[in-house]
This record gives sequence, structure tokens and C-alpha cells, in this order.
Amino acid sequence: MTADPARIIEPTFWHQSLETRMAEFAEIREFGAFLPITINNPLLGEPETFYAITRLEEVVAVSKRPDDFCSSRGATSIFDLPTEMLEYFTGFINMDNPRHAHQRRIVAKTFTPTELAGVIDSVEQICAEVIDGFCEQGSVDLVQVLSQPFPLMIICDLMGVPRSELGTVLDATNIILGGGDPEFVDEGDPIAALIGAGILLTELMTELVEQRRINPTDDLVSRLVHNEAPDDMMKPSEIASFFILLATAGNDTTRNAISHGMDLLSKNPDQRRLWQSDVDGLSAGAVDEIVRASSPVTHMRRTVTGDISVSDHDFHDGDKVVMFYGAANRDPRVFDNPETFDILRSPNPHVGFGGPGPHFCLGAHLARREIAIVFRELLRRLPDIEVSGESIPLQSSGLPLVAGLKHLPVTFTPTAPVGK
Ligand code: HEM
Repeated sequence: MTADPARIIEPTFWHQSLETRMAEFAEIREFGAFLPITINNPLLGEPETFYAITRLEEVVAVSKRPDDFCSSRGATSIFDLPTEMLEYFTGFINMDNPRHAHQRRIVAKTFTPTELAGVIDSVEQICAEVIDGFCEQGSVDLVQVLSQPFPLMIICDLMGVPRSELGTVLDATNIILGGGDPEFVDEGDPIAALIGAGILLTELMTELVEQRRINPTDDLVSRLVHNEAPDDMMKPSEIASFFILLATAGNDTTRNAISHGMDLLSKNPDQRRLWQSDVDGLSAGAVDEIVRASSPVTHMRRTVTGDISVSDHDFHDGDKVVMFYGAANRDPRVFDNPETFDILRSPNPHVGFGGPGPHFCLGAHLARREIAIVFRELLRRLPDIEVSGESIPLQSSGLPLVAGLKHLPVTFTPTAPVGK
């Protein structure tokens, strides 16, 4: 075996194409269920060790045991977040029960399929509007014109953030999830840039909360502010953290599922033809296969809370484990021909939205709908759309939380906007 598990923490590992990265993971996965990796903590200037999980069985086992593998000790990022960052980034993804269950329950009501029905209508409308914006051009960077604005507009509409602030939110989320890519972060202290982005989004939300307190509308912020049950009231700071969580977790992830999806379809023309032959009928399977194969969220960490044993490995209080979803989603112990993109794959028990447990992606239903609608519209309105050049992966300065494509050139036969 040539691969070295410690490659996972090198930025260059993540600058590779999806296929090359996954081929390396295939070798690394065979070293064992829990791979100790030592990494230098840039915040403390000290080395620390975590256990990398690259197999599906162990991702599922850890996700299911939040009491033994918790999320609140230092956060779910590989490094503990400094206090000033925790203030802005402690959405409930970094909480444990009872706080986690309480906060998630308040907002979860909005993300049920029934509640989302109205939002889905606007997803279709926004998708048509975004495609109208570039369908006459014939040649575009799909990330810039579609993958990036589309999920962002949906999250902002859902919360009630005005369209005039889209650019501000986009820049801030690019700093938060851009992993230090020089295209998104100016020269200077990247930590200060992160904190600045957090402050900016918090201020935006605090202002919106105040406006909606006086003039409620039918958006999510109004509902959170004018909650009838006193127990379900969120403080303005909690609403702001929730917005940062949504603007990052719900935006960059979907953006990259769309970009990778287009790339995967171009590289697998037989699968594309198959989907195009029955766009609606095959949509559910195709969307989940895109999420499995691309696994936009690269990893989540948990911290061990006591002396426990999993898959014959003894853990101790304070040990860190990091689940690598993309690697687990290609585990040959579970998936037949895991490197093959197969929109008819069944069963497809992928963990692209997280393993089963309390932190399973709150927006999975919305994300699936967004991706399904985008490809339905693309495959119908621009039926010959093709990737026409090299995709450029995010050039993060460390291990990115979301593995993305910054640019994806595509060409298609120009067509008239439907809104005209
Ligand atoms: C393809 C798109 C998406 C992918 C791949 C994805 C993936 C994930 C993953 C892996 C987690 C962590 C699960 C864990 O720690 O066990 C997560 C959590 C979360 N996601 Fe998503 N997500 C996507 C879209 C969305 C959207 C559209 C929203 C909301 C609008 C959203 C909101 C959240 C929230 C709020 C959490 C935290 C849940 C909690 O801690 O209880 N996600 N997502």
C-alpha cells in the first residue's frame, strides 16, 4: 500500500479532483477502522491526535451514540474553537442534549415536508429565475451563475433576508467555509476574517429580528420571534447563530452537490441519458447517488465522553474521532462497485447527510428537493449542457469542511428565458 493516512490532513489532498481523492481514500480505508493521525493545531501551535473513521459501520455506530461521542466539547470541527469564535459559530450542530434537542425542536417544525410545501413552490420559481439569468449565454461558469446563487437565495428567502443583502451573505459564508482559499479571504489574519464574517452575519440577523418583532411577515424569523409558546422563544443571539448555521450548512453543501452532480453526469453519459429518459421517475435515486458520490460535507468530529469500546477499539475520555463521510460512502464492505456512479443504486444507505442520530441533517428534505428541481430544469431546458473545461476545486489552506468546486465551465445551446 502506498497511501499514508496522514495525507488526509494535507491541503493538497483536498485540492485533488474528487476521483483522485477517493482513490486515495480507498487505500487509506484499508489500514483500519480508527486511524490515529497527529496534526498541528495552528490555534495553539501544538500537535494533537484524532482518530480518522473512513468506514461506514463505524460512522453509523458513532453517530448513533451521542452520549458517548458528544458534539459540544470544543465543537465538531477538528480543532476546538476559541471562545470568541464559539460565540458566533455555536449553532446547535455544536450542542448536546438537552440544549440540542430543545433548539432543534423549535426550528425543526419548519423543515418538515408539510411545512416546506410553500417553500418548495418558491424553490421552483427561484430555479426558473436563476436559469433565465444565463440560458441565453451558451457558455458559463455554472458555479457562479447557478450553484452559488440558487441555494443562497432559498435560505435567505426562508429566513426573510432581503435580496439586497445576498452579496453580503455570500461573501461572509465564502469566508467561513472557504477554508482560507485566497480567492475568498484577503491577505491578513484568517481567524480575524472568520470572526469578522460571523459578526457581520450576526449584525444582519439582529437587525432583521428587530424589524420582524415590529412588522412580522410569513418568514421564519417572524415565526421564531413571535412564538406563542414561551419555552420555544429563541434569544436574538440564538437566532443569529441558527442563521449562520443555515447560511453555511444549507448553502455551500447544496452548492457543491449541484456542481459535483453536473460534473458526475458529464463524466457518466450513460447515467445522464438514463436520467434524461425519465427525469421525474428516476430523480429520487439520482439525487441520493449524487450526494453519496460527492459527499460535500467532508467530515464531522465527535469527542469521547468516557472509557468505551467500539469495533474492538478502546477509547478514553477526551479522545477525538473524525468521521470522513466521503470515504465511508465508498466503503466496499457496504456498497457494490462503490466507485461507480449508478443512479439506480439500491439500497443506498449513504451517510452524506450524516449518520443516523440526533444531528442528522435538518435540511436533507429541502436539499433533496433543491437538487431534484435544479437537475429537472437543467436537463429539460438545457438538454445538451456539458462540462466544457476543467473544474477547479477549492484551494483551502487546511482540511475543508465542505469540499467544493470553485469553478465549473459548461456549454449548452442557448435558449430563451421562460419568464419572458
Ligand atoms: C446536499 C446538501 C447537504 C448535505 C450534504 C448536508 C450534510 C449535512 C451533514 C453531514 C450534517 C452533519 C450530521 C451530523 O453531524 O451527524 C448536517 C447537519 C445539518 N444540516 Fe445539512 N446538508 C445539506 C443541506 C442542508 C440544508 C439545505 C440545510 C438547511 C437549509 C441544512 C441544515 C443542516 C443543519 C441545521 C444541520 C445541523 C443538524 C443538527 O446538528 O441537529 N443542510 N448536514
